[in-house]
Amino acid sequence: AAAKDPAMPAAKPILIAHRGASGERPEHTLAAYQLAIEHGADFIEPDLVMTRDGRFVARHENEISETTDIAAHPEFRDRKTTKTIDGRKVSGWFTEDFTLAELKTLRARERLPLLRSGNKAYDGQFDIPTLGEIIALAKAASERTGRTIGIYPETKHPSYLASIGLPMEALLVAELKAAGWDSADAPVFIQSFEVDNLKALQRLTNVRLIQLLDAQGGPADGAQPSYAAMLTPDGLKAVAAYATGIGPHKSLVVTNDGTVTPLVADAHAAGLQVHPWTFRAENFFLPAGLRKGINPAGHGRLADEISRHIAAGVDGFFTDFPYIGAQARDQY
Ligand code: G3P
Ligand code: CA
Repeated sequence: AAAKDPAMPAAKPILIAHRGASGERPEHTLAAYQLAIEHGADFIEPDLVMTRDGRFVARHENEISETTDIAAHPEFRDRKTTKTIDGRKVSGWFTEDFTLAELKTLRARERLPLLRSGNKAYDGQFDIPTLGEIIALAKAASERTGRTIGIYPETKHPSYLASIGLPMEALLVAELKAAGWDSADAPVFIQSFEVDNLKALQRLTNVRLIQLLDAQGGPADGAQPSYAAMLTPDGLKAVAAYATGIGPHKSLVVTNDGTVTPLVADAHAAGLQVHPWTFRAENFFLPAGLRKGINPAGHGRLADEISRHIAAGVDGFFTDFPYIGAQARDQY
């Protein structure tokens, strides 16, 4: 077993399926979540965006030209638009401009077909899942398998959505409450890069909250403390006032040259769990591998990389390949 900080519970790290088993099925489809559960995931991760009628659907971004077949729908052609969201100008079709019924006429597409060439075969087979469908899937799987399968949603662009009348915090808490999953012991973590989103959620719910941290030091807009500031011992103590844990980019835990940083020890000292992201074989692909698809040699290196993070004491991790993550986790 990996040596863990004695201040933290000695539990197996949790395996979070990043967008489902997204290395093997198109991301954010019920098929990707289902396969992740079969492969041993403890939690499935939906990135959440919103519909015009206030419903949650799972897409990596609210702009869906790459992740759906919307460009091939003539009835939606004139609803393409350009917006500035969180300081970035984006063109395309946005979920918040469509009702759930309209979005349900679309089909999911593989966003990275060169990288995940095996997923291309599934284009057109699956629709866009709602949060309600994802919760139902997790509950049914928990009952069937006898394991507890939870959800680990990320709120995407919460302040932008609030500015157009779609307050994610209140709507998400209402949906979790309706599912009976609105407590600290519910199988739920909510993750966000936005501090104010997490603080607003903290006022509404006891569900466990995770502050995401990227490796770039940002955010650029200065609207909240920089990630670099949050990574210091004092910054982590401030995060612990509103969150249960942090979700750092993996290089903040073990650097690219293999050095273990003080982050896990500092976070544990502040009482925070640590769930790094994202473990995926694509990081190890050579240009030729990119063209050929999944590279088994890359998978071996992926398992080693996850094991190094587990040895560094992380409490959980996000991976696109839950079956590889399960092997590493089960050796703990
Ligand atoms: O939620 C952790 C990680 O998923 C954040 O990045 O872009 O994959 O949602 P992204
Ligand atoms: Ca995410």
